[in-house]
Amino acid sequence: MTEWWERDDLHYRDGALIFAGRKVDDLARQFGTPSFFYNGRRLIDNVERLHTALDGAGLTGRYRIKYAMKANRFMPLLTHLCQSGLVGIDACSPGEVEHAIGCGFAAENISFTATNLSNRDLQRLSRIDGLSMNCDSLSAIRRWGELGPGRNIGIRVNPAMGISRAQNEKLQYSGVNTTKFGIYREQFREALAVARDYNLTITKIHFHTGCGYLTPQLEIWNAIVDNCLWFVDQLDTVTVVNVGGGLGVPHTALDNPLDLNRWAAILAEHFRHRPQTIEIEPGDYIAKDSGLLLLTVNTVEQKMETIFVGVDAGFNIALEPANYGLPFHPVPALREEGESRTVTIVGNINEALDVWYAGIAMPQLKEGQCLTLINAGAYSSSMASNHCMRGEFKEFLLL
Ligand SMILES: Cc1ncc(COP(=O)(O)O)c(C=O)c1O
Repeated sequence: MTEWWERDDLHYRDGALIFAGRKVDDLARQFGTPSFFYNGRRLIDNVERLHTALDGAGLTGRYRIKYAMKANRFMPLLTHLCQSGLVGIDACSPGEVEHAIGCGFAAENISFTATNLSNRDLQRLSRIDGLSMNCDSLSAIRRWGELGPGRNIGIRVNPAMGISRAQNEKLQYSGVNTTKFGIYREQFREALAVARDYNLTITKIHFHTGCGYLTPQLEIWNAIVDNCLWFVDQLDTVTVVNVGGGLGVPHTALDNPLDLNRWAAILAEHFRHRPQTIEIEPGDYIAKDSGLLLLTVNTVEQKMETIFVGVDAGFNIALEPANYGLPFHPVPALREEGESRTVTIVGNINEALDVWYAGIAMPQLKEGQCLTLINAGAYSSSMASNHCMRGEFKEFLLL
């Protein structure tokens, strides 16, 4: 293994990129591009690694994992995760809940956390028995209470602290700036009063404060958990604490994988003398590095001092590089020997921000060649748009 991203299921062999035991160039030739390929085994490995870390921290039987399906809702992928029996679901819209149930998940294994729900949304959700609802505003508590007084609910809280890869503000849901997510300490008493009006019992406290965090952010993670337990301590009815998702994976050679043992130890320390069950709801950590996006180079041309490598899909089918500045490392399906040169990889959309990767040293790339982007398994296909009517792509789950 020579490149930072290489691992058992993703590596070069004799100059050919191998993914999930297949030659990526063969996949591109057989199925065309742009195409997303997901490795079913890697998805399960990622979940199992979380279980191992939590068990290793002494939390066996005290936690549940809910896959955040907003990361990737491709039906075969959800069905595969469901059949593993290792995860439930975190859903954020009525459509997601129904889709998850369609893929085999029981409503009892779905945790629902959304924002700015309409009455129509709430009515649709209210018909689903067993769903675990987390309300993120006083309005949601009141309107959910009106629809079904006497139920158990969760409350999403906002600790006014955020966490993300390199503390990237675009990936934070809480922090210095006031956000729409969850109920702040200052309004918590009022929220409890609204819940009382409808005889709702608060059995869960939920927080999710940002995405993509890695080992350098674990001190902040510790402080956030500590802060949020204040909310739990105001009540004696809380049986579950949902600590959200946000666990990240490396995007560049400079990122190290998240120290999961340390992450789990922080949870174990906080919950050692607490009776609650811990829920986590990662999306990225489970799905992101299980996916590759296969593209075809169609244009290689120097303009002024820059060598542009143009490919057959743009930022609209994988928004993270353009939206959040998260680099998707480009890897040729066939590695040519010879000198590398610095290129800028760009898509086929008429927008200035349609840049996959600016200034990266790559081996020679030729028109017609397959180029892959790694880390395309989460928040790519699920966020894709048909901008410029270039929203077409295929998806495959490799088992
Ligand atoms: C409430 C909630 N939970 C979980 C997640 C999953 O986050 P990640 O994919 O970073 O683990 C999100 C992502 O936006 C979220 O909003």
